[in-house]
Amino acid sequence: MLSSNIEKALNKQIKIEAESSQIYLAMASWAELKGMEGVAEFMYAQTDEERMHMLKIFKFVNERGGHAIVSELDAPSTDFGSTKEMFETLLKHEEFVSQSINELVAITLEEKDYATHNFLQWYVAEQIEEEATARTILDKINLIGDDRSGFYHFDKDIKAMINFNPQAPIV
Ligand code: FEO
Repeated sequence: MLSSNIEKALNKQIKIEAESSQIYLAMASWAELKGMEGVAEFMYAQTDEERMHMLKIFKFVNERGGHAIVSELDAPSTDFGSTKEMFETLLKHEEFVSQSINELVAITLEEKDYATHNFLQWYVAEQIEEEATARTILDKINLIGDDRSGFYHFDKDIKAMINFNPQAPIV
């Protein structure tokens, strides 16, 4: 059974994951309209992945006797400046998500809720991966600089960095 404090904190994380999904959907749209097919595909996969992150907590809350809440979401930006700025925004956002997960983990320790603590370890590992991917992409963008043909290859290569399978069951 979840304490009301942990239930509230998990519902806050559900909202953050849902907003992450919205942000990456907005980025997919922006990239698609700029003709960056690979980047758009990457962002469409990201939006699905964040929805999976959201659903995983959602189901956990209900399984543990809480009430998972669908709340109103903040609308994301529609313009992300440049591809580099967009990935900088993505990295900053993932750092914010990591911080939020860390705070959540701290609450579970304070309350000795080891079941939720154990559940959250998946998110701790996932955040390390997400931040690393964003940094790798930014390194590539910085290497390319103003090289247009380099950017053309980057847009193709980024598809290889998609590691989310939307058909995979949520476990
Ligand atoms: Fe679910 Fe990218 O944080």
